[in-house]
Amino acid sequence: MLIHSASQLLTLQGGPQRGSALGTLAIIEDGAVLVRDGSIAEVGSSNDLRRLHPDEPALDAAGCVVMPGFVDPHTHVVWSGDRAAEFEMKMAGAKYLDILAAGGGINSTVRRTRLATIESLMDETRPRLARMFAYGTTTAEAKTGYGLESETELRMLQAILALDAAGPLELVPTFLGAHAIPPEFKDRPQAYTDLLCAEMLPFIRQWWGSQPSTAVRPLPFVDVFCETGAFDLAQSRQILTKARELGFPLKLHADEFDNLGGASLGVELGAVSADHLVKTSAADIQALASSDTVAVSLPCTPFGLAESQYTPAREIVAADGYLALASDCNPGTAWCESMQFVIALACRALKLTPAQAIAAATINAAYAIRRQDRVGSLEPGKQADLLILSVPDYHHLGYRFGTNLVKQVIKRGQVYSQQGDAVSAGTPNEAKDVSI
Ligand code: NIG
Ligand code: FE
Repeated sequence: MLIHSASQLLTLQGGPQRGSALGTLAIIEDGAVLVRDGSIAEVGSSNDLRRLHPDEPALDAAGCVVMPGFVDPHTHVVWSGDRAAEFEMKMAGAKYLDILAAGGGINSTVRRTRLATIESLMDETRPRLARMFAYGTTTAEAKTGYGLESETELRMLQAILALDAAGPLELVPTFLGAHAIPPEFKDRPQAYTDLLCAEMLPFIRQWWGSQPSTAVRPLPFVDVFCETGAFDLAQSRQILTKARELGFPLKLHADEFDNLGGASLGVELGAVSADHLVKTSAADIQALASSDTVAVSLPCTPFGLAESQYTPAREIVAADGYLALASDCNPGTAWCESMQFVIALACRALKLTPAQAIAAATINAAYAIRRQDRVGSLEPGKQADLLILSVPDYHHLGYRFGTNLVKQVIKRGQVYSQQGDAVSAGTPNEAKDVSI
């Protein structure tokens, strides 16, 4: 298939972008992409590629921006139930960490998720994944963390793997058994930390290696919520150190509400990313910027909680760090499936340019889940994960918000067209007639 005549083809070629390189879109005007067997075979001008491949089935992208699919590197998209009642309490002034300390918050979703079968968990999650995909996310990280005991944590992991296998949205799993102190360990966080290290992490490692389908995949990430009322710095260190010994790549939630030093801990342990980073100190920013740990900002979280402070993203970029963006899609702080909205918010609240936000949501987001060799840019050899936007210029991303600018999503070379909030598969020729 030859996608041609794009008003702007955003290739994002050249690898992850740190510091002042952030925002290098590497645009080809009147651009074209040749897709073969689910991969990108060639990228160039429409003139050249149409001359070289005259008989290729064509998809006319005239008047449209063509770009890599969004990568969403931090989600809690698998859960049961909702927390609508807590939203009203929070808007009336209740604090997120107070609700958590009182047994609500994450633990209210834990109670619901423990009761859910794998089938019902998948049924509840599928519409969220469908919306993410319709809004242009072609790869997303997905965390466990609403089980907080081995059996439910494993069920969540199995749901993530089954939803990934069903597609089209590709999921990259993270084990987040250290998301909160479960109710049966209330006031005994150290006992739960010890259980995670002695039993739960080794159990997940053993299970992963014992399944024919997972043994061949990269190990999941292990993540910790390093926060007041969750895991303190010493407990976070203990869990991540054990995870590293077992071979897991690391992530952590740091500085969402309080600065405990999590970002610097992540850098010290070689974490792939440190996420949230709202209350991050100047010393933590320096530590991040002198490392390859990606700073993942989640602007929907302060927005969702109606808080005024956001990630010091420009400082991180000015210090030469790697910055990525994610939705944090979860039932408590940020039920948002749209990376387009994340970009719009990042332009306003983090003061990124649209080009910086786009790079942070594609190639740098791919780097934040260490999939930058396969997704996040349009370069020969990479997976053919692309978006066709119904706008002629990339600045419409960021500038506009609340509606869907994605006309077609292409995942591994398969074209999906918008029908309202849903998408349907088709060939290039039939797909191009379906309007939003
Ligand atoms: O990233 N901070 C911890 N985890 C989520 C919230 C999860 C929840 O409230 O259910 C976050 O904001
Ligand atoms: Fe999170």
